[in-house]
This record gives sequence, structure tokens and C-alpha cells, in this order.
Amino acid sequence: MSDEQSGGKGHMADAAITINALRKTYRGSKGQPEKQALKGIDLVVPQGSVFGLLGPNGAGKSTLINILAGLVVKTSGSVSIWGFDQDRNPRQSRAAIGVMPQELNLDPFFSPRGALEVQAGLYGVPKSDRRSDEILDLVGLSDKAEAYARTLSGGMRRRLLLAKALVHHPKILVLDEPTAGVDIELRQMLWANVRKLNEQGMTIILTTHYLEEAQEMCDEIAIINHGEKIAQDSTANLLGRMDSRTMVIVPDSPIQALPEAENVTAIQRENGDLVLQYHSNQTNAEQVLEAVRQAGIRIRDVRTEEADLEDVFLALTSSRTDDVMIDDPGKPRRGMHRVKL
Ligand SMILES: Nc1ncnc2c1ncn2[C@@H]1O[C@H](COP(=O)(O)OP(=O)(O)OP(=O)(O)O)[C@@H](O)[C@H]1O
Ligand SMILES: [Mg+2]
Repeated sequence: MSDEQSGGKGHMADAAITINALRKTYRGSKGQPEKQALKGIDLVVPQGSVFGLLGPNGAGKSTLINILAGLVVKTSGSVSIWGFDQDRNPRQSRAAIGVMPQELNLDPFFSPRGALEVQAGLYGVPKSDRRSDEILDLVGLSDKAEAYARTLSGGMRRRLLLAKALVHHPKILVLDEPTAGVDIELRQMLWANVRKLNEQGMTIILTTHYLEEAQEMCDEIAIINHGEKIAQDSTANLLGRMDSRTMVIVPDSPIQALPEAENVTAIQRENGDLVLQYHSNQTNAEQVLEAVRQAGIRIRDVRTEEADLEDVFLALTSSRTDDVMIDDPGKPRRGMHRVKL
């Protein structure tokens, strides 16, 4: 066995993916200017992690993922997948990764089982190693195994895309917005599968606009914006960075004057609730309550809200928050950026 064949894991013990100075400039077409989608990204994804790649629309997430998948050709920089350089060892690096793309790019004339067989053929998976039925079962498509892809619903197509990403038993599974627009059942199925595969040792990279999901699923998160990486840390550390607090007070009677205190911002919501924002390293809750009493306000009810990933995300990417689709209708709005004035 040559050095390169045997060396997949050897010389890059802990990294599933190493990206250095990655750039992508799309050529402009039809009078459009060229677009620098990635402006020199450095990224290391640890083996065995569930890694979140977050950023607003147009940040460059899919470009990065599609470069990993070999679907987009990078402009410059280097990408190493499971220790294999993408340019020097294209076959091995490709074999190490399975990608579920954001776009639903399925051949309408294949059945799920047929599509998996074709995919297995493309990756050179020997017949004896193929587990189409097992994979179809995993994604809940067994009863549609012989249906034409064009007769599948959107959610079923997503399941099939996940199945296709798994046929060659990759070390790394990449999911580009797997839960965008899918129903609750499919979402739960996806996350259950992701957890199971990760427990079996698969490294997972995912993008999502549902920050609550990222907070729950990911060990580590990188945030990119305008083609640049602006943060990378463990999920816990990212959350720890935010010491903003919000205290919501339901007053006993209509407020005459807003409380005033240093480093505390007070506003009133339309429903009469009083919202006080402060930083826990500057001000403590007692000082906030004291200011409320000073203003002659009697408290009927009070609750506090801590920052969540959404706050971190908005704080870091706030230059373009109007672009961000982070709505999850089921989720109550929290945090300092969400106060209705
Ligand atoms: N084929 C292409 N030709 C030209 N520009 C492109 C192409 N693909 C993407 N872009 C541009 O590159 C930038 C990054 O796009 P990309 O799809 O990587 O963003 P994204 O972070 O995945 O966004 P989203 O959250 O909307 O999926 C955008 O400005 C986009 O318009
Ligand atoms: Mg995208």
C-alpha cells in the first residue's frame, strides 16, 4: 500500500476536514459583476463532531459545501478531506465524504432503489457491500423503493438525497439545510438519523437557519458572513460570549415613567410589559429591580431571558440581519434583539 493510500487518517489525526485560504470567485454572467463568494476561509472540522456552518443567506455556505462535494471548483486555497488533499487525491477525498445538497437535483426517471444503485456504481461500491434496502429503511422510504422520483413528494425527495449521500459509507456526512421546509416528522427523523450516525462515528457537518436546532445538535459552530469566517468555537463558548440579559416585567398598573439606571435600557412593549436590557457583567438583577421600584412601578410578574444562539448570531452578523431567515413560527421570540418597540 502506498503512503497516500494508507495515510488517510495517519497524518491528520484529529481533523476530518482542513481548509486553508479557500477562495471562490464566481464569474459574472450577462453583464453581472464577478462575485467573491469565499474570501479566504480557514477551517478545521474535528473528527467525530457535529459541526454547524451558519450564516445569513448568500454568506457562502453552499459554495463551501459544494466545493467539499466536488460540485463547485474552487478558485484557490486547499481542501483536505480525511487527510486526503482534494487536488492530489481526488478519488480518496471524494470517497470520504457524502453530501446531501440544498438543491433537489434528482433524476426524475429513477426510483429510489435505482438511484441508490447508480450512486453506488459511481462510487465503485461493490455489489456485496451495497445496502440499498437498509439505507431506504433508515430514511423511511422502503415503501417507495420502486416509485419514480418524480412522483415523490418534496420531503420524500429530501429523504432520497440523504440516502444517496450514505451509499458509499462516508466518514463525513454533509447536510446543506436538511430541514428547510420539511414537516416535523421528517425533521425528527433527520435529526434522529444524524445522532445515530454520529454515535457510530460519522463526522457531521450541517447548515441550518434554525438556530435552535444548531444549538441543540452541534458541538462546534463556525459562522460565516460575506464569504468570511467571523467566528468558530464550541457551541457552549459561543453562548457564553453573550452576557446580555433581558428582564420582562408585567406592571401592576400603567407605567407613568420608565425606570432609569446606568447601563440598563428600558422600553415598554405595546401590551404594557416593561422590558429591561442589561449585561450581567455590568449590572446585577437587584440593581435593575431597584431602578424599577425607584420609578414607582409595582411588579405583578417578572421573568428573565438569557441570550441564545440567535442572539450570538445576530450580534455577529448584524450588518445584514435583514437578510436572515431565522423564523421558526413555533419558537417564542426571546432576547434583546427581539424586543418589539
Ligand atoms: N453559480 C453561481 N454563479 C454566480 N454567483 C453565485 C453562484 N452560486 C452562488 N453565487 C453567489 O455566491 C454567494 C454565496 O452563495 P451561497 O449559495 O454559497 O450562499 P449560502 O450561504 O448557501 O446562502 P443560503 O443560506 O441562501 O443557502 C451569493 O452571493 C450567491 O449569489
Ligand atoms: Mg445555501
